[in-house]
Amino acid sequence: MKGLLLAGGYGTRLRPLTFTGNKHMIPVANRPILLYGLEHLRAAGIRRVAIVLGPMHEGIQEAVGDGHHLGLEVTYVHQGAPKGLAHAVACAREFLDGEPFVMYLGDNLLQEGVRPFVATYEASRPDAVIGVTPVSEPRHYGVVELDGDRIVSLEEKPARPKSNLALVGVYLFTSAVFEIIDRLKPSARGELEITEAISGLLKEGHRVVVQRVSGWWKDTGLPADLIEANERVLSSLGPKDLTAEGEVRPGAKVRGLVGVGRGTVVEDGAEIDGPAILGEGVRVGPGTRIGPGTSIGAGGILLGCSIRRSILLDRVRVEGPVRLSDSILGRDVTVRSIRPSETEAQIIVGDSARILV
Ligand code: G1P
Repeated sequence: MKGLLLAGGYGTRLRPLTFTGNKHMIPVANRPILLYGLEHLRAAGIRRVAIVLGPMHEGIQEAVGDGHHLGLEVTYVHQGAPKGLAHAVACAREFLDGEPFVMYLGDNLLQEGVRPFVATYEASRPDAVIGVTPVSEPRHYGVVELDGDRIVSLEEKPARPKSNLALVGVYLFTSAVFEIIDRLKPSARGELEITEAISGLLKEGHRVVVQRVSGWWKDTGLPADLIEANERVLSSLGPKDLTAEGEVRPGAKVRGLVGVGRGTVVEDGAEIDGPAILGEGVRVGPGTRIGPGTSIGAGGILLGCSIRRSILLDRVRVEGPVRLSDSILGRDVTVRSIRPSETEAQIIVGDSARILV
């Protein structure tokens, strides 16, 4: 079994979060989101993984390298033009070399990982295993209509969905999928759709097994999804996942599980409510409140502000009595406030912005 992780903009649709560079490298609990997918592949016993790089792939090779530190052997395949998920798979054909493979979309997070997909495959050796889960807005996803466990129809982002079951961004295929992909035509959005490849497998009499995903699943294409994913991952961490290498001064209050990175100082008069994570070299000054569901990247400086349910990338400075929630601040952002505010503000902004409130 091999693994395929798709990253760097494999489709034509540019998502809002490309504002801060490569969205697959946006940190969730201070770690690039695509590392979770790689770890899930590893946890399912998969060693050989190719990362298919779309056009926005900055930082990926630097962070993952040959995958050795993750217990993987990682190679890279360049997709060139982003012509869709099925196109990305076709680009990796030589690497896959006829073996079955798990494909993981690099901006997805699946709580239970990919082990259940591999177990389902091992049990009856179908040609594909697809994961489904109920969602409130199925028209944003591939939608599967079922009769018991039998697939009745599959549609990519239908205007009138026939069910509320979305295809999650993890799939298992055998090499049978390549014959179908070879014959696919671009969809209305100009992509070779993996959903159409799955329909093609069914039409040609191949066996596709549906796996109902029981844990939570997030496609982090939108800022609100990322904030929720961050909160969920933080809540799932245990004490051994978090470092306590920094310094919490005696006059600071830290409640719940909070990671405090090396060189970080939580000064007297600061308050932190976990789950939260502070990276390396962060300064949390007097009068600052960090609320649950918050990740602060390395080198952050927080002085007198209040921040909850937010993601701050590296070297963010927030100064003054501003109250932020549900925010994402890119690298090197500065937010300065000069007067106390009654209400919480939400700021979603890319790298290097300067904001005065
Ligand atoms: C892709 C698939 C879609 C699936 C979704 C899951 O959508 O085409 O069927 O439901 O991933 O994240 P895209 O991310 O390309 O919009």
